[in-house]
Amino acid sequence: MTGFVSLVGAGPGDPDLLTRKAVRRLAEADLVLYDALVAPEALELAPRAQRFFVGKRARREAIRQETIHGLMIRSARRGKRVVRLKCGDPFLLGRGGEEALALAAAGIPFEVVPGVSSAIAAPALAGIPVTHRGLASGFAVVSGHAEAAYRPILGSIEPGSATIVVLMGLATRADVAALLLARGWRKETPAAILLAASTPDSFAWTGRLESLGAAELPEDRGDAPGTLVIGEVVSLAATIAGVPEVAATAALAGHGRS
Ligand SMILES: C[S@@+](CC[C@H](N)C(=O)[O-])C[C@H]1O[C@@H](n2cnc3c(N)ncnc32)[C@H](O)[C@@H]1O
Repeated sequence: MTGFVSLVGAGPGDPDLLTRKAVRRLAEADLVLYDALVAPEALELAPRAQRFFVGKRARREAIRQETIHGLMIRSARRGKRVVRLKCGDPFLLGRGGEEALALAAAGIPFEVVPGVSSAIAAPALAGIPVTHRGLASGFAVVSGHAEAAYRPILGSIEPGSATIVVLMGLATRADVAALLLARGWRKETPAAILLAASTPDSFAWTGRLESLGAAELPEDRGDAPGTLVIGEVVSLAATIAGVPEVAATAALAGHGRS
């Protein structure tokens, strides 16, 4: 009678960036438990499923992680095919590992369906390759949510030696920039803020590390998810995607859905 749980990555927002396996799992699902950043179009791919929002967004009351584990486990024990739909890739800064461990501990059969992570897709859609020969041979992805999480990592990277990608870092971008500058990063280091990548609301700001903290973002996108990118690779955005140094609102329209 035991069902099955798929921990599925939904990509950065554009439903065309769902994998074929994700689309199949959604079509077969009895129950979809989805996060805040999952696009409504992705849910429409699960027409026969019950769909429950279990997301968390900053400053809003969130459903407890243990409650999500319990929902997945109980539903699978009732024989349901459950899709746990998470934005980007389920195992990148999304607590997907904890969910997999909870399922394993409960003896529930499950799989992981990787997704296109915003950590790579948001820069890519803005014309920023996270690595580029001669500019950066590696990149680090950190959460900007808590200083305790990013400080030891950013503090250990040789200034300018890698691309830094910060998720959940819009509110703390001034602190992240200050930390890097204090660590010895050049104030002219190119930096980007990428909002709602791959969606019709996408917006890109590019500038320098010294102005990252004070960069003005469009007020009408206060709730949009954002990714920060810091490093010489950001300078390629102008050529690859035509994003000027300080981009105008909707500069990336046309780099979203087609
Ligand atoms: C909880 S983390 C999950 C990351 C996800 N697992 C991934 O691989 O993309 C959510 C953060 O991802 C970033 N993000 C997600 N979707 C995005 C998008 N469409 N554009 C820019 N950043 C995005 C933002 O930093 C957001 O706060």
